[in-house]
Amino acid sequence: MQLEIIKDDAPVLRQKAKPVRIINASVRKLMDDMQETMKEAHGVGLAAPQVGVSRRIIVVDAGEGLYEIINPEILSAEGQETAIEGCLSVPGWAGEVDRYQSIRVTGINGDGNKIWLDASSFLARVLQHEIDHLDGVLFVDKATTLMEATGEDEEPVEVAAKPSKFRIVYMGTPEFAIKPLEELLSCGHDVTMVVTQPSKRGNRGQLEEPCVKEFAASRSLRVVQPESVDDEQFVQAAKDAQPDFIVVAAFGQKLGKELLSVPKYGAVNIHPSLLPAYRGSAPVQRALMDGQSRTGVTMMRMTPRLDAGGILAQSAADISPSDDAGTLGEKLSALGAAMLPRVLHEMALGRARVIPQDPAQVTRAPRLRPEDETIDWSRTAAAIGNQVRALRPAPGARTSFRGKNVKIWSVEEAGAQARDASPGSITCEDGTLTVVTGDGLLRVLEIQPAGRRRMPAAEFLRGYRPATGDRFESHA
Ligand code: CO
Repeated sequence: MQLEIIKDDAPVLRQKAKPVRIINASVRKLMDDMQETMKEAHGVGLAAPQVGVSRRIIVVDAGEGLYEIINPEILSAEGQETAIEGCLSVPGWAGEVDRYQSIRVTGINGDGNKIWLDASSFLARVLQHEIDHLDGVLFVDKATTLMEATGEDEEPVEVAAKPSKFRIVYMGTPEFAIKPLEELLSCGHDVTMVVTQPSKRGNRGQLEEPCVKEFAASRSLRVVQPESVDDEQFVQAAKDAQPDFIVVAAFGQKLGKELLSVPKYGAVNIHPSLLPAYRGSAPVQRALMDGQSRTGVTMMRMTPRLDAGGILAQSAADISPSDDAGTLGEKLSALGAAMLPRVLHEMALGRARVIPQDPAQVTRAPRLRPEDETIDWSRTAAAIGNQVRALRPAPGARTSFRGKNVKIWSVEEAGAQARDASPGSITCEDGTLTVVTGDGLLRVLEIQPAGRRRMPAAEFLRGYRPATGDRFESHA
């Protein structure tokens, strides 16, 4: 039976296919059908994901006989050869791909027997191409040039050398922006300029440099810190850089229309939420405060309206109960870094699908204000716990004790409380510090009195000896 060949951006082509555990009649039928489908399509190889089955099965006929291999693996590889490839799942395109010249492959045949196969040149190429399919990789990901294939009998006509190395202007400021930048560098892209917010004077007058500036300097990248990226002077500098892309990650300034029109393929923003949820500058903290158990990263094509551009790609991530803004930010930064190269690649090929955001689903994640940092003890224990972890590692959740500020860095829920207890009342027992909230007790684990370092609750109790009637107040 001939099967339909899955094409272009179907998710099944981008997944890692699962190994086959049992070779039964349906697996054998699938292999027969794949073989028939490959022949009908005049292909030299076919992988199961190309017919919509996410299993590790390939069939290959490169003129040296038919091979059907289950769970194929490359054991060793040698040499290098560059040649033009196409793919039944990427119709209309061909491109030069570097492959190993010879490989040794192992796997299982349709009879369930282990096989070894030494292949070189064209057969080796076809095997590598098909095994890539099992890992969600298409030849266009590896192609060093890309051409439009004009017809079956004609030589493909080169329309554009695919720039596998992009010129990038990167804009980012905090820690979150480092991993994606690192990823671009490790892919070999040419980051011609790193743009970050101006350095600030700290409380004690010391100069505070953005995290990204320090990282960029360690890689000897050119760093600029304009007061406004829409200044004529900066826009001209961006034009002079002739970027293929502007990539933005938690930069902290809006980009105007003129600047957005500078890069050849467009401007991409890495936003740590599943847009259109949590638009704005504090999506990680706001998701934690709301007690969400899931968030993610969105790659967005930038438009002059903040966070309103079309969605290029999205990946979800779980929020664990122990996550705070630090650990969650790190998780999302790594996720964004992993997503970025493919998005740029597909945009450059003009193959990116842009999905508009649904205006009806928009929620906001506004910048944290001082009042977001103050604990209101009449709220629920869960809400206060979420607030504490949303504000860790900075700036910290605040309350007041004997008229002075203290920061609460870590709490855990500690069960029910007496019905008449008033929110903010504290109890000290056996070296533990518990606080009454709107609906239950919270145990304070780590606390920081004004002008002191962070300390465990037991140390605070020894130093400050709270007495009966002492309480945390919401306002200093
Ligand atoms: Co293919």
